[in-house]
Amino acid sequence: MIITIDGPAGAGKSTVARALARRLGFQFLDTGAMYRAVALLGMRQRVDWERPEPLAELARHLAIRFVGDRVFLQDEDVTDAVRSTEVTAVTRHTADNPQVRRHLVALQRALAGSQDIVTEGRDQGTVAFPDAECKIFLTASAEQRARRRLRDLQAQGESATLEEVLAAQQKRDREDAGRPVGALVRAADAVEVSTDGMQADEVVDHLESIVRRVISKTVA
Ligand code: DC
Repeated sequence: MIITIDGPAGAGKSTVARALARRLGFQFLDTGAMYRAVALLGMRQRVDWERPEPLAELARHLAIRFVGDRVFLQDEDVTDAVRSTEVTAVTRHTADNPQVRRHLVALQRALAGSQDIVTEGRDQGTVAFPDAECKIFLTASAEQRARRRLRDLQAQGESATLEEVLAAQQKRDREDAGRPVGALVRAADAVEVSTDGMQADEVVDHLESIVRRVISKTVA
């Protein structure tokens, strides 16, 4: 069974998708980490961001591994590096690149294989897994999303103000919505869930009840 969770940055997708996967005993796929990992490699190799081919090559040969909650490139743990502000700022070059997207969507399908998975991103229910049995579109107000991102940054020892985070988030929302391939849109058959005013475990409870309903309908 495939469960897709799409939505804008900061809606809490990553935390709840991970927790939901754990509860159900499903694999978890963090597709944002893939776009970030290609950007990290691009940064290290000082690629020309305006040239699409070198980035596409990096995506084509991406040796990414997910081990528990950690992300590895070859044997290097890059979990924190891919979430840094520097990498976040350049990841649009990989996410906007149609060839990169094509390679990463192929990789996502290969990693999913025939396993039960919860996959999280922007285009999982629309492009990567249009036939997924259960699709969630997770949202929250702009301010709640920015506060969440600020907390995450502070936990990583980075400093920023709420205004800075809000401005960066508006920019990313525009980029996510305006991308010619893989733009953030709610799949017609996705259930929309707003996380405003909810604790993470309440959201996970709610998502689990949605999934259990789908499972019982499938079995019936
Ligand atoms: O969810 P995130 O913040 O880790 O995503 C990082 C970037 O990658 C963000 O700019 C959106 C983009 N992304 C995407 O275009 N498609 C996905 N399936 C996942 C992430």
